[in-house]
Amino acid sequence: MTAPDPFEWTVAALKNHLDAGEDLFVLDVRNREEFAAGRVEGRTAPPTLNIPYFEILEAGGADDLVEAVKIYAGRDLADKLPRGKPIVTVCARGGTSAIVAEGLRAAGFPAVNVAGGTQAWGSLYTSLALVNSPALKVWQVARPARGCLSYLVACHGDALVIDPLRHTDWYVSFARRYGLLIRSVLDTHAHADHLSGGPALAKAVGATYHLHPYDAIHPIDVLPATISYEPLRDRQIFNVGTSRLEVLHIPGHTLGNTAFLLDGKYLFSGDSLFVGSIARPDLGGHAEAWTPLHHDSLRRLMALPDDTLVLPGHAASPGEAGADGVFGGRLGGLKRSNEGLRKAAGSGKEFLAYILASLPEFPPQYVEIKRANLGLIEPDEDRAGELELGKNVCALESRCAK
Ligand SMILES: [Fe+2]
Repeated sequence: MTAPDPFEWTVAALKNHLDAGEDLFVLDVRNREEFAAGRVEGRTAPPTLNIPYFEILEAGGADDLVEAVKIYAGRDLADKLPRGKPIVTVCARGGTSAIVAEGLRAAGFPAVNVAGGTQAWGSLYTSLALVNSPALKVWQVARPARGCLSYLVACHGDALVIDPLRHTDWYVSFARRYGLLIRSVLDTHAHADHLSGGPALAKAVGATYHLHPYDAIHPIDVLPATISYEPLRDRQIFNVGTSRLEVLHIPGHTLGNTAFLLDGKYLFSGDSLFVGSIARPDLGGHAEAWTPLHHDSLRRLMALPDDTLVLPGHAASPGEAGADGVFGGRLGGLKRSNEGLRKAAGSGKEFLAYILASLPEFPPQYVEIKRANLGLIEPDEDRAGELELGKNVCALESRCAK
């Protein structure tokens, strides 16, 4: 076994350093457009400077790449980069940032490169056991680069996966490691912000894939899905070992939007209710028509017991996690802290005005992502990476009082 490179961190190591709140500085050498779409951050966002690689080389002027970086860093970055703390260099694949890290070290900065860059960061998954009783186990699976959350529910070896993300091998390996038999794979809705791993995971493990039929028609193209799926229906029950998972059809974010209530205690809210905000109802192009549905659906969820643990499909920011690292909150607490939920308690007219005033920009790639999730197109790996660049924006602006 070779010793780990002291000048290079894996993305998993980077996540640990960030979550521990270590004093780091990030130099991101991707182009400005890529950087604007999303940066690496843990529970807190480290101070970050973006200087594209080619600008560094051009300004450095030397033929030798490392020497060019050294000249530029010594001359132009002396008052921009801190001394005495690790400078973490990041690029798209980890190659050019390795050259920058070497040049920085030659100029006297303690630089460390991130292996695999943001591409590796985008395929990093972490898991956290939310429930770990002898019978029932629930894991929250996070993909930090996208702020996406998915869940594995297991009881007596039977398992079910909710909203799996694109890198399905991760779930297959996880199930194998814990001796789980995945029988069902459920999507809370046809996602627009990320490529679903649902159909592929179901196929890989011989499980059934489930989606609400209203979401099996592209809302903008008005074309039917070509993927095969079992239709979800309101009040349907999935038995997982001795646990029961109930389907709640809660249209609004999409027409076929669903949430799942496990044993009356844990609400997998998908993209309806988040910790700090609520879902946007405009991604199908029908904000005004769908907002009253969203209003009714949120009120249906609010009628659940206050101690229901809400487990969302997205995190707006890594800082939304509690001290235990879990993204979630008791419904009673969210009724007080979550502005969208407070607005949902009011009249439909006020709620509509609030929604229409709070909609973030519509990301154009979301139309294409939904096509892919319905099987209407098949993006290759490079295109998939482009479509999923940066953070999701499935929520209204986060206005959590927490
Ligand atoms: Fe969504």
